[in-house]
Amino acid sequence: MNMNIMKVDYSTKIPNNVNLSEDRQVLKALEGWHPGYIDWWHDMGPEGFQQSLVYLRTAYSVDPRGWAKFDYVKMPDYRWGILLAPQEEDRKIPFGEHYGEPAWQEVPGEYRAMLRRLIVIQGDTEPASVEQQRHLGKTAPSLYDMRNLFQVNVEEGRHLWAMVYLLQKYFGRDGREEADELLRRRSGDADSPRMLGAFNEKTPDWLSFFMFTYFTDRDGKMQLHSLAQSGFDPLSRTCRFMLTEEAHHMFVGETGITRVVQRTVDAMKAAGVEDPNEIAKVRALGVIDLPTIQKKLNLHYSLSLDLFGSEVSTNAANAFNAGIKGRYHETQIADDHRLANDTYPVLKLVDGEIKRVDEPALTALNMRLRDDYTQDCVKGLLRWNKVISTAGYNFKLALPNVAFHRAIGEFKDVHAAPEGGLIDEATWTRRRDEWLPSTADGDFVASLMTPVTEVGGFASWIAPPKVGIDNKPGDFEYVKIET
Ligand SMILES: [Fe+2]
Ligand SMILES: [Fe+2]
Repeated sequence: MNMNIMKVDYSTKIPNNVNLSEDRQVLKALEGWHPGYIDWWHDMGPEGFQQSLVYLRTAYSVDPRGWAKFDYVKMPDYRWGILLAPQEEDRKIPFGEHYGEPAWQEVPGEYRAMLRRLIVIQGDTEPASVEQQRHLGKTAPSLYDMRNLFQVNVEEGRHLWAMVYLLQKYFGRDGREEADELLRRRSGDADSPRMLGAFNEKTPDWLSFFMFTYFTDRDGKMQLHSLAQSGFDPLSRTCRFMLTEEAHHMFVGETGITRVVQRTVDAMKAAGVEDPNEIAKVRALGVIDLPTIQKKLNLHYSLSLDLFGSEVSTNAANAFNAGIKGRYHETQIADDHRLANDTYPVLKLVDGEIKRVDEPALTALNMRLRDDYTQDCVKGLLRWNKVISTAGYNFKLALPNVAFHRAIGEFKDVHAAPEGGLIDEATWTRRRDEWLPSTADGDFVASLMTPVTEVGGFASWIAPPKVGIDNKPGDFEYVKIET
């Protein structure tokens, strides 16, 4: 592997491993975009703490064995860079009609519009999550958690840079226009919202943040994996490096929820509360009851499922045929990678019942990716349930049925209980608050969100982490707060 590609050039204003200093036109375009990005960061990035020193990791290489350096950085001074995984020699397009042909180093003209759209949609999610999370610094349960939030935020900012680089380098004028639009849309804005539903929802509290990083960042992981298979090599390399960073975001979610659950069962045990459903008793202990955690999980899982789009989709089939967007772990699947004659079982509504129906595998690719996602989600639930059962409680967190609370796809026009039974409108309205966070639940969780900023301190509702970041202890000063 070429060491020049692995190392990142920090001598330019925009750190990169794509030889930007010799690519004047693109460098100029990126430098032109930079001030708008910084304005966006100040307007829509983390509220407060912009002058605080945050113990952040910055990528200095794309070598998976060691790529990050930790140091105190003020967020606006973070070195957002353009980092692509090393080019694989003789890489071939791993699926679709062009299977086995050399990967493209330039945009194939016939797929230009499709590629641009996929890059823009991915790009739009990155700043959106920063916007959704911008208020959370003020209520961080510890400096450790605050640091993790800001790490996720600066990296989502970097992911925006990654997509903007592709747009500006490979799509000329309309690419530059799209790059500007990415800074103009705003999460939740009535007039110019972000492109996907889940990215216009609020992230009102830290439990939501952990659920978001567990469930919604995991959708990001699945999408990035599919795009990392792309026959358009620069997109593939970009996504491969983004996945390295993304892993930490999901770690924050998984361990965050683990710590919340741990604290809850510890407090219940200490107080002798035997029934996890005695919500008032549990809440009086200053921790979040398990049924409320389940409701938050129901909400974020169902919102994230919508991100996969319609189960049956000709767009997905076209992107696959074109060699633009593959399957999760495409190169490890043992089939012809063309899928012309294959079928895939899709969950559908048939005569008022949820049934699996075989559909052409090509049009069922969204369903397949969503199934892969669900399988990936299960791992966390096993861990959380282990914490609960180890504490001696008979309570299981579970993923709701895919028909539950959906706004996109087969089940958008019906109501279903979390177990999957179809119900009528009146039943849904009556029971909704048993399954999704109610206003009262939100108020209760919000009441716990008092910031803890002393070094080594943690809020009442969350256990400290088992290990710190970068092998630092729990009482390390992860953020030096400047007020
Ligand atoms: Fe991201
Ligand atoms: Fe992420």
